[in-house]
Amino acid sequence: MPFPEQFLEELEAKNPIDEVVGGYVNLNRRGGRLWGLCPFHNEKTASFSVVPEEGFYYCFGCHKGGGVINFTMEVEGLDYPDAVRFLARRAGLTVPEDEKTASGYRYRQRLWELCRDAARFYHETLKSPEGQSGLQYLLKRGMKPDTIVKFGLGFAPNRWDGLMRAMEEKGYTRKELQDAGLVRTKKRQVQKEDGSITETESCYDWFRNRVMFPIIDVRGSVIGFGGRVMDGSEPKYLNSPESQIFNKRKNLFALNVAKKTKMDMLVLTEGYMDAITMHEYGFDCAVASLGTALTDQQAAMLAKYTKQMVLCYDGDEAGQNAAQRAIGILEKTGVSVKVLKIQGAKDPDEFLHKYGADRFKRLLGMSEDQAVYRLGTIQKKYDVTTDDGRVGFLREAAAFIATMESPVEREVYGGRVAEIAGVRADAVNTEVQQVLRQSRYRKKKQQEKKDLRPAASAQPEVSGIKYENIRSARAEESLLAQIFLEPGLLDKCEGLSPEEMSSPELRKVFSWAMDRWHQGLPVSVAAMRGDFTPEEQSLLIGITQKNQSLTVNEQALTDCIGLIKSEASKRNSKDLMAAVNRRRDHTGYKGGGAL
Ligand code: GTP
Ligand code: MN
Repeated sequence: MPFPEQFLEELEAKNPIDEVVGGYVNLNRRGGRLWGLCPFHNEKTASFSVVPEEGFYYCFGCHKGGGVINFTMEVEGLDYPDAVRFLARRAGLTVPEDEKTASGYRYRQRLWELCRDAARFYHETLKSPEGQSGLQYLLKRGMKPDTIVKFGLGFAPNRWDGLMRAMEEKGYTRKELQDAGLVRTKKRQVQKEDGSITETESCYDWFRNRVMFPIIDVRGSVIGFGGRVMDGSEPKYLNSPESQIFNKRKNLFALNVAKKTKMDMLVLTEGYMDAITMHEYGFDCAVASLGTALTDQQAAMLAKYTKQMVLCYDGDEAGQNAAQRAIGILEKTGVSVKVLKIQGAKDPDEFLHKYGADRFKRLLGMSEDQAVYRLGTIQKKYDVTTDDGRVGFLREAAAFIATMESPVEREVYGGRVAEIAGVRADAVNTEVQQVLRQSRYRKKKQQEKKDLRPAASAQPEVSGIKYENIRSARAEESLLAQIFLEPGLLDKCEGLSPEEMSSPELRKVFSWAMDRWHQGLPVSVAAMRGDFTPEEQSLLIGITQKNQSLTVNEQALTDCIGLIKSEASKRNSKDLMAAVNRRRDHTGYKGGGAL
């Protein structure tokens, strides 16, 4: 069930968008708006704006836009209900929730509390005689006591029910322990004396005799654990199973700390120990993935906190391949990516203990920009001591260099390639020029095609939304822009049915606006809130921004409606003809009679 309108209005009134955004972005007033550097994409001049009076933000660069709840979702990485709860907490309001959602949320809160208590229990155990082996293990690996406290590391006792008992004593139920992934249940069939078979359940702690690493999400809740063995047994790390509160594809270890770093980068490592050791040595920008390859969701989260990612994976082949894949995933989000190659040690943890912070810092300063790194990986594919290998390398490297925007870059990297291949620099240059000519030719052809089909350039700039019928969509956009400027015009739209609109997204907005108008609720972009995806909201705000100087008049509105209707009827008759044709094929009907 959605949150009540009245509550959302109060929530927004108590969380003015300029104030909330101002907590993340430095805003300056210019004209009717506040301007700042967009937190969602990399930019040097401000194209991100906030219109406090109307309660929305819009970035003219990346075309993201929405109200204060949407902003919170995007910037904090929360879903809609959690963003509402976040803002409610910020303003000291209680969220009126229907029983089902409220109890779902309360249950998750209970599991978070349980995990926090479990983390405390493991930590206490580490300090107790029972945890000595764990503590000694960590100290022997060179960890400082401060670090152990800072990351809340702990020890799971070498018993079947150590945690279970302690938590049940605190009032947690068996089911809660199972749902949080802390206790495991096994069904066993037991034969009784009379020969009959009964099933019994046995429960035991998921983590036993392991050093424990609590996993904390960006909001600061303990959501799961990683547990490491202290000898060479398998599996080396055991993680919490997926649960209502733990999704290893959507979280990153230590991001709760690293998101506050003053350094202008985040460093992604493969292991918990790597991230922790980096923090210990003063690099508080380190995070680790949770034992899986980097996911799109994790990349999107990282991109919210930084514009510069440094990949610091293990030096072995597996690590380097993983880095290669991570580059692609990260670049899609628009962040710049550098790769730090660990040399003389197998991973960052070992490197820091062996060579210290200064050398690591130098390594970080030198971390190859991805161009050098890419050239390195291209080089590895070929044996440049042979003629064949050199030609192959030159071709591929030239194609890569041709993708660089700046002539200076092309010159510099071209020089490197020439050196590697042992040819003259102008040979590389010739090759690059040829690739450039080809790609210019292709681009020109594409542009010519585009010019013949102006439709393509009128597509919305919001990712994932495409118009099928540009002519109609333009009219739909203009209609909605007028309605949002002057909702009273909705009275004049009664003759238009939402189905007649060609774009599903715009249709959804129109019928939502109509409904609200009938119910006497305000129609504004800020009110779109949870009823629309962030993309849909961005699309609509973009439309209203594009049409700011639009003059609203009934004639313009009537023209739009007329155009939408005529496009709709064309579509309908096409559909009808298609149906008739299908029928014909089907029945062997060859035509000749009336329909
Ligand atoms: P150590 O330094 O040996 O303690 O480990 P590490 O932090 O350097 O990690 P390693 O490079 O061995 O592995 C990287 C990450 O992969 C770990 O932090 C875990 O998240 C995960 N991982 C490693 N081994 C296992 C395993 O056996 N099972 C699972 N599920 N994950 C593992
Ligand atoms: Mn390691």
